[in-house]
Amino acid sequence: MEKMAEYRWNTSEFAEGYDAAAPEIHPRYTAVQEQIVQLLIEHAKSLGGSYHVVDLGGGSGRLLQRVLTAIPSATATIIDQSEAFLALAERRLAPFANRVTYVVSRLQEDWLAKLTQQPQAIISTSAIHHLDPVEKQKLYQQIATKLPAGGLFLNGDEVRPEDDVEYQATMERWADFMRAGMQSGKIPQGFHPAASSWIERNVTKFGQPKKSGDDCHETAPVQLGYFRAGGFREADVAWSEELWSVLRGKR
Ligand SMILES: C[S@@+](CC[C@H](N)C(=O)[O-])C[C@H]1O[C@@H](n2cnc3c(N)ncnc32)[C@H](O)[C@@H]1O
Repeated sequence: MEKMAEYRWNTSEFAEGYDAAAPEIHPRYTAVQEQIVQLLIEHAKSLGGSYHVVDLGGGSGRLLQRVLTAIPSATATIIDQSEAFLALAERRLAPFANRVTYVVSRLQEDWLAKLTQQPQAIISTSAIHHLDPVEKQKLYQQIATKLPAGGLFLNGDEVRPEDDVEYQATMERWADFMRAGMQSGKIPQGFHPAASSWIERNVTKFGQPKKSGDDCHETAPVQLGYFRAGGFREADVAWSEELWSVLRGKR
C-alpha cells in the first residue's frame, strides 16, 4: 500500500506544476470543463432554488472557479486528499470565499460525513481514474446515495476505449502531446519529471497491472454499469473526445 506522504500529488511542487500547466498537460482540459459547466447551468436552471455543488478531487479549484462564476447563486464544497492542491484552490477561489468549503479527504474515506450541505450536483475531473475498480464502485454508490431525486453527477475523466490497440494509440498520442509541451517549454521544467514518469508508467509499461493510485482506466460501459448498480436512474456519456469523457448519472 502506497504511503500518503509518498503519493505524487501531495508535494507543493507537483501541485503548482500541474496547476500552472494543466491545459498544456491535458489536451482536453478546457473542453471537459466547458461541457461540465454548461450541463450544470442547465441543471441549476431546471431545479431552481439553492444549488450546492461538490467537486471530488477538485485540486486547485480551476473547475469550481468556472462553476461559481457561471452560476452566481451556487455554493460549493471542494474535496481533495492533497493539502498542497487545496492551498492553491483557496488562493484561486478567494473571491468566492463565503461560497466555498474546503475538505481534506481521500475519496476512499468517509468524505460524505464531512459534507455540511446537501448537494444538488456532484462533479469531478481527472481524479476518479486514480481509484481501482472496487473503490470506484463504492464511490459511485456513495454519490448516488447522497444525491437527492433529480440530482446530477458528472465525471469528466480519462476513460479508456475497449480495444487495447486503440487504447495504446490514444495513450501514445497523449504522450506525444506532453513531449511537445516539454520541448516547447509550455510545460514548465518543474513538471517534466512528473510528465516523464507518466509516460513511463502508461506508455513504456503499457499493459502492466495497475493498483490504486495509478491511472486505473476503465471503459465507459463498465463505469456506467457501476453507476446503475450504485443507484443511478439514468447513466450515459454526455460528451467524449479521445481519452476524455463526461460520464453522467441522474438520480
Ligand atoms: C489531475 S489532478 C486534477 C485536479 C482537478 N480536478 C482538475 O481537473 O484540475 C488530480 C487530483 O485528484 C486528487 N486525488 C487523487 N487521488 C485522490 C484520492 N484518492 N482522493 C482524493 N483526491 C484524490 C489529487 O490530489 C489531485 O488534486
